[in-house]
Amino acid sequence: MTFNIKKICCIGAGYVGGPTMAVIADRCPNLIINVVDLNLERINAWNNSDLSKLPVYEPGLDEVIKRCRNRNLYFSNEIEKHISSADMIFISVNTPTKRKGVGAGQASDIKWVEKSARQVAKYANGTTIVVEKSTLPVKTAETIKAILETSNQNQTINGENKEFSVLSNPEFLAEGTAIKDLENPDRVLIGGDSQEAIKALESIYLNWINSEKIIKTNLWSSELSKLTANAFLAQRISSINSISAICEETGANIKEVAGAIGMDTRIGNKFLSAGPGFGGSCFKKDILNLVYLCNHFNLPEVAKYWQNVVEINEWQNHRISKVIVNKLFGTISEKKIAILGFSFKANTNDTRESPAIGICRDLIEEGSSLAIYDPRVEEKQIKLCLESMEEISNLNNLGNWHLSRSVIDAVTGADAIVITTDWTEFKSLKWEEISKKMRAPSWLFDTRNLVDIEEVKKHGINFWGVGCGS
Ligand code: UDX
Ligand code: UDX
Repeated sequence: MTFNIKKICCIGAGYVGGPTMAVIADRCPNLIINVVDLNLERINAWNNSDLSKLPVYEPGLDEVIKRCRNRNLYFSNEIEKHISSADMIFISVNTPTKRKGVGAGQASDIKWVEKSARQVAKYANGTTIVVEKSTLPVKTAETIKAILETSNQNQTINGENKEFSVLSNPEFLAEGTAIKDLENPDRVLIGGDSQEAIKALESIYLNWINSEKIIKTNLWSSELSKLTANAFLAQRISSINSISAICEETGANIKEVAGAIGMDTRIGNKFLSAGPGFGGSCFKKDILNLVYLCNHFNLPEVAKYWQNVVEINEWQNHRISKVIVNKLFGTISEKKIAILGFSFKANTNDTRESPAIGICRDLIEEGSSLAIYDPRVEEKQIKLCLESMEEISNLNNLGNWHLSRSVIDAVTGADAIVITTDWTEFKSLKWEEISKKMRAPSWLFDTRNLVDIEEVKKHGINFWGVGCGS
């Protein structure tokens, strides 16, 4: 099979599909890229002439979109049409953890991947490369291949044979730095059987990425590498978070410990920031997926090892809520607490699995009134995350929450502030002004170790920091 790639279709215009295709379009002006999604509201938002209204907030994304949208990058809900004209199709739909049935709570639900593969089988023409962009359980490519090879579908209406080649090309971008990561990745991984198909995809990346950074493996290594990379990254966070608890008990300081171990080049200094637990759409889902695979292949010890990474993460999150309640004399009922940050990390509007959610829920359950401020997350998104909580609090007279439009608004009259997201603006808050707005004795709980502790204490605010204590 030889491939001449001119048109690309990407199914799924989410946090991964949108920015990834935007950068490919930007770097490859000769390719036509159609990003399709069944969610029309999302497509309309991608097509919004006001670039501040794009559905995904990523630094630098608006500039890239401005350069290529309607030049060689198009967003549309005409899924079938764009599948049929594409030479290469990326599947970038979401793969959440299954809620029901076999593997519920662990296995990834690949129903949308399967559905996309069926659409591709039906509407594609000629020879087509199908690229798994979504993070998937190992061996999913087999399912996709089986669907694509369904005998009653492998001819076009004109009697022409359809031919498919499946590749795995996991995306390693992190939200908040997606454009930088896509423009200058540590590596690009392509897994597959067909050398021609691998070459075709490689030739796209070669437009801006050095060949030494492009790794080629078999399909299963590629799929497993993505799960493993996320599991290792998450494991580092659970490791440092577990040590943060020992620091608080002993008087050691987690920043000093992280600094000391990070200088060992074998350990490295990245991903060693203690915090309220990792969030985001990938880490928990991918580890649970790995756990499910291990159990499936009768490796219970390995499953247990990785399961612990998730358990420590949840423990850390709730541990912080307990510290807050304890420091506020064991009760926060009817106390006002300002929550600074709701996204799962800085520079994104994504709230999936955000550690702020667990902390807010715990505090509402304890009866507190929360004033939530985030520079990018919209009220309706917070509402979705805390929805069931609202129902319970109405029934049981628990605490409540409301949105604040500024830090000052949130902290006015508050007994405590909790910094939950590492937004840069929280590093340089005006503590003198804030201290005057709060109700004494006031507290700051810094779950991200962002602030200058001495500056906070100087203005009479009690301080607690993760892994530093108070
Ligand atoms: C990505 C990856 O693809 C996923 O595997 C990874 O683990 C997390 O990141 P992401 O882009 O973050 O997913 O997901 P999301 O922002 O939810 O976007 C997925 C899009 O696919 C949605 O806009 C959804 O409407 C669309 N979709 C889903 C389709 O167009 N068709 C479908 O059948 C299902
Ligand atoms: C992650 C992977 O980094 C990326 O390669 C993969 O493609 C998708 O999953 P993402 O979830 O977008 O990316 O963000 P990441 O920067 O990894 O942060 C995940 C969570 O860990 C965030 O909640 C972040 O605040 C937290 N974190 C990160 C820490 O608590 N401490 C750290 O040192 C680093």
